[in-house]
Amino acid sequence: MTANVEFEAVDTNSEIGLLSVPRHVAIIMDGNGRWALRRGLPRTEGHRRGVKTLREAVEHAQKRGVSYLTLFSFSSENWARPQQEVSFLLALLRRFVCDDIKDLIRNNVKVRVIGSRENLDKSMLTLLDDAERETAHCTGLVLVIAFNYGARDEFVRAARQLAERVEAGELRAAEIGEDDVSTCLDTRDIPDPDLIVRTGGEQRLSNFLLWQAAYAEFYFAPTPWPEFGPDAFDDALLAFSNRERRYGGVSSDAAGT
Ligand code: FPP
Repeated sequence: MTANVEFEAVDTNSEIGLLSVPRHVAIIMDGNGRWALRRGLPRTEGHRRGVKTLREAVEHAQKRGVSYLTLFSFSSENWARPQQEVSFLLALLRRFVCDDIKDLIRNNVKVRVIGSRENLDKSMLTLLDDAERETAHCTGLVLVIAFNYGARDEFVRAARQLAERVEAGELRAAEIGEDDVSTCLDTRDIPDPDLIVRTGGEQRLSNFLLWQAAYAEFYFAPTPWPEFGPDAFDDALLAFSNRERRYGGVSSDAAGT
């Protein structure tokens, strides 16, 4: 983002009463299938429409001054969906990267992909690596795409890395601390989410960022993802801005009592 846009973000934020902006917003984009079925459309149409919302969300996060936006695009469990829906979701991701990469670069958006790279098709691996490499110089919003991602799988891969370091004599098991675990996760260079949003009315984490969510604020919206436009995004940001985060401590009002 240019300095101008950052200034504009601060300005419009105060207009809507936003007192603080989460540095990192992570979103579970749920409700695509139900949105489509309610309209007599195939579930895949909900995902197609979801990409439009995704573009709006990237733009809106930049406007509000969010630094990291993580989107749960495909979970390690989503392979169990009907083959046709899986292929459609993979094709949408490919098309998004191919069609939008120039715009992302123009808007100074850096792409990061988290999730397991094991057993991925070679062309998909190349696509994801290229998206990260081509946007590596960007210094604005970091768009984190969680693809083939599951928090337990991420944790298992981290445990293996730590065990290998112990076996190699680089680390003593008794000395393993939170930082050692964090640096083995896919999100090693990404701050923990401040706000986790789930659209579509369900209220669960579904194996998303379990370690990183330790002190996140949660916001569950009934709105299905295809309808989660800028105003709905603002509602989530406003709810966050009114929360008091205590990180296990006490509120400043209670501190003196
Ligand atoms: C959950 O809705 C949504 C998904 C599993 C996929 C989300 C993907 C996109 C919005 C587009 C592709 C991503 C990129 C990065 C281009 P659901 O199908 O579980 O909805 P339901 O709960 O109503 O069935």
